[in-house]
Amino acid sequence: MAHLVWTADLDTGIGEIDRQHRRIATYINTLYDLRASPDRQALSRVIADTADYTESHFAFEENLLEQAGYDFEGPHKKVHELFIRRIVSIQQRFENGEDVAEELHQVLSRWLFSHIRTEDHAYVETVKKYLQRNRAQRERADSSTRGDARTDYEHMFPELEQRMPKKGWLARLFSR
Ligand SMILES: [Fe+2]
Repeated sequence: MAHLVWTADLDTGIGEIDRQHRRIATYINTLYDLRASPDRQALSRVIADTADYTESHFAFEENLLEQAGYDFEGPHKKVHELFIRRIVSIQQRFENGEDVAEELHQVLSRWLFSHIRTEDHAYVETVKKYLQRNRAQRERADSSTRGDARTDYEHMFPELEQRMPKKGWLARLFSR
């Protein structure tokens, strides 16, 4: 498997989620480019960045599912946890000197698109409805936001900040 190529069926239609998913795919493609590199430091960095960004995305997504009242938020979170555990154990083997970049690339690229197409697509309707409700409420509360189609995720920040112990992770997640 070479580079991941984004196709329209992967879009959820939830702007921020799609942006984060595409960003993970970009990280995975960078890992592909560096997989045989003799520069273990560069490889170590891209592995850490991919794991870090993916974990931050999961925290964001789980928070959104929780706020939207998604029935399967628990099982979805479990799927994320198991996946992170798998990635961390491969990362550990890399740090111990094993040659695992190829294996990690395969695991990540196979998992991401299949997860998006199945588990992620299952929450789309619930989350979209929640975001619409949320936007309507915000517009009622503040007439100056009327016509502003952007979603305000800032009200989620206090909870999100507590969710991840790593400092600055939200800024990294939202940096474009
Ligand atoms: Fe997910």
